Amino acid sequence: MQKKTNVAVIGCGYWGPNLIRNFSSLPDCNLAAICDMKPERLSHMRNLYPGMKVTQDCREAIENPEIDAIAIATPVHSHFDLANQALLGGKHTFIEKPMASSSAQCKELVELAEEKNLTLMVGHTFVYSTPVRKIKEIVDHGDIGELLYISSQRLNLGLFQKDINVAWDLAPHDVSIILFVMGHAPSSVNCQGKAHMGSSVEGVTNLSLNFSNGGFATVQSSWLDPNKVRRMTFVGTKRMILYDDNEPLEKIKIYDKRVEAPPHYDTFAEFQYSYHYGDMYAPYLTQVEPLKVQCQHFLNCIRTGEKPISSGLEGLQVVQVLEAASVSLKKGGSKVDIDYAAKIDQVNTKKAKFRRVKQHSVSTPESGVSIELGLLAR
Ligand SMILES: NC(=O)c1ccc[n+]([C@@H]2O[C@H](COP(=O)([O-])OP(=O)(O)OC[C@H]3O[C@@H](n4cnc5c(N)ncnc54)[C@H](O)[C@@H]3O)[C@@H](O)[C@H]2O)c1
Repeated sequence: MQKKTNVAVIGCGYWGPNLIRNFSSLPDCNLAAICDMKPERLSHMRNLYPGMKVTQDCREAIENPEIDAIAIATPVHSHFDLANQALLGGKHTFIEKPMASSSAQCKELVELAEEKNLTLMVGHTFVYSTPVRKIKEIVDHGDIGELLYISSQRLNLGLFQKDINVAWDLAPHDVSIILFVMGHAPSSVNCQGKAHMGSSVEGVTNLSLNFSNGGFATVQSSWLDPNKVRRMTFVGTKRMILYDDNEPLEKIKIYDKRVEAPPHYDTFAEFQYSYHYGDMYAPYLTQVEPLKVQCQHFLNCIRTGEKPISSGLEGLQVVQVLEAASVSLKKGGSKVDIDYAAKIDQVNTKKAKFRRVKQHSVSTPESGVSIELGLLAR
């Protein structure tokens, strides 16, 4: 019988319990310890998981030779220190998004994981979701034509953070989806935003991503909106996809709509756009919790040595975009270039050479669900 992977989770605030629930539900995982600095969070977790080893000192988990892997769900400012300790302690490491507070920290972690031959994965949860995988498949097959632009809105009331602005809090999801679907990282970023509520931390931001192939994406993030909005639009030359993650069933709608300019014209009067209004189609999507697929993928990568779909390198790319956004915010929204290729090349790793690889598959043995991931690993 296959040995179970012993996992410890650090951080049991808002998000950590979701990782704990999923890891504890996977048959090839043994949730070995839970750690949080706050005793009240630990007593809550002890009630939910009687008999579970809980500790306020994360070193107990990191130094425990029985533990194979550490999952970190603490605030972003603590990600680097904890992940660094975990990797130095020889543990496979999962870090919640955003990977760290700076791209320099991300690079250090990528190099350390490479040097120690350990799995390093980042919680870009949506790239493990069925709707996003379906969108990627549709775009890659060329069904919507050439992808012209993506627009994304992630809005809600709160939760206001004290240490990071709303772009660092919410936009990692949109940016990771955009990079995943586009298949490459942007060349420059513009970002404008505003801090309200007497704080200096921006609670509303608008981000524009420019791609070297002419691609374009916008991301609107807000903690100050009356409604919870999770919408993305993928506009192609032939069709358009609307992804509404708040929809319970029909999360993706493909619209057979487009605008065409006349191929040639002689006079201004002949120049007429033609608007095509066709049907809408909502493809069937299997219902699987993305977080469960993500946790299973982490365990699979530890077992096989395969590079995760959202590895440290994808974590680094997202943080590079956020970093450029912070610089742009300070310059009132000016364009900030990301010398992405140069920065990635600085990462001294064989795996940093982005290339297409053979099909990956993420499966949850318990549910028998398998999602083909034939792409990425760039
Ligand atoms: N993937 C997703 O969809 C998603 C959703 C929400 C949050 N997150 C991410 O999860 C992470 C945690 O966010 P949150 O909202 O749960 O934060 P939180 O503040 O609610 O919880 C963090 C917990 O970590 C504990 N903690 C902090 N430093 C610690 C340390 N050194 N050792 C032990 N415990 C420590 C705190 O006591 C707290 O209980 C963030 O990176 C956030 O971006 C991801």
